[in-house]
Amino acid sequence: MILSIESSCDDSSISITEIATKKLIYHKKISQEAEHSCYGGVVPELASRLHAVALPKILEETKPYFNKLKAIAVTNQPGLGITLLEGIAMSKTLAVILDIPLIPVHHLKGHIYSLFIEKEATLPLLVLLISGGHTQVIRVESFERMEILATSMDDSVGESFDKTAKMMGLGYPGGPLIEALALQGDEDRFDLPVPLRNSSLIAFSLSGLKNAVRLKVEACGGKEKMSEQDKADLSASFQKAVKLHLLQKSKKIFAKEQIKDFAIVGGASANKYIRNAYEKLCAEFDKTLHVVPLEYCSDNAAMIGRYALDAYDKKEFIDPHEIDIISTKKQQSGMLL
Ligand code: KG4
Ligand code: ZN
Repeated sequence: MILSIESSCDDSSISITEIATKKLIYHKKISQEAEHSCYGGVVPELASRLHAVALPKILEETKPYFNKLKAIAVTNQPGLGITLLEGIAMSKTLAVILDIPLIPVHHLKGHIYSLFIEKEATLPLLVLLISGGHTQVIRVESFERMEILATSMDDSVGESFDKTAKMMGLGYPGGPLIEALALQGDEDRFDLPVPLRNSSLIAFSLSGLKNAVRLKVEACGGKEKMSEQDKADLSASFQKAVKLHLLQKSKKIFAKEQIKDFAIVGGASANKYIRNAYEKLCAEFDKTLHVVPLEYCSDNAAMIGRYALDAYDKKEFIDPHEIDIISTKKQQSGMLL
């Protein structure tokens, strides 16, 4: 079995996967959303201290599996440096004490492999990854070949939901709050710009839209003066602009890429409004849409464990004394490293 640890942001999570069957045997996640909510976003120092309490608590429950472990896996990039450190410190200790190999896992590859926790792997695949840290389209040809085709030039999709929610004083994380409010709103009330609408660039950009939302909040008299209906209408209008932006750029990619299977992964892929839009788009382009079970969309160690199973087969091990944190570097193009 492999024990995997995830602590790249505000979720402390550990999983156990079985090598022979590729099955998830144990999985637990302690989320810190409530603790960060009053700040409207993740406070890294607080997140790190909460991991230091939560990870050992979860690890205690996994002790019965210790004598069956063949490797330890851990997210080492990308993420918040001081939160990655918590998982890495624990993984190094376990690998050294149990004298078993250590597998470093790229968090975004983990998100891609979240597709295969409950079903067989389908490759090649085009993947739209929409999370709090990233917005990218990746061509996944094989375990070794994952190429970034498009990326955000500034904010990510999840981040834009979080910032929009913060501007309206809704709390954190913004995604589920905005999605729920939007159900009561009129998506045509606020005229918001669809990013890069007239640009031929195959890339994403969310910061201009965020600024447009800020101006609408101000025009309503600020978040204190906004009515519940104003907030619902702005949520719906914002979500519509994000959807149109994603669809417009995806269409350009679909026109160029022959791969038939398309997937959406990452925290923001839990959004049903966006999922529904992709269902229609995929039908139009004769693509097969793959989505992640809702419980594995946001950060979790089950996806890290799923990737680690293939990495174990390929012997992607690292000396515990050599493992390094690669924190905030955002890769714009090329192979996902
Ligand atoms: O993948 P994830 O857990 O963390 C990163 O790797 O960044 O994604 C978290 C992000 C947050 O920004 C959150 O607001 C967003 O995913 N999110 C959503 C929804 N649920 C979570 N965004 C839009 N709609 C949702 N339903
Ligand atoms: Zn993530």
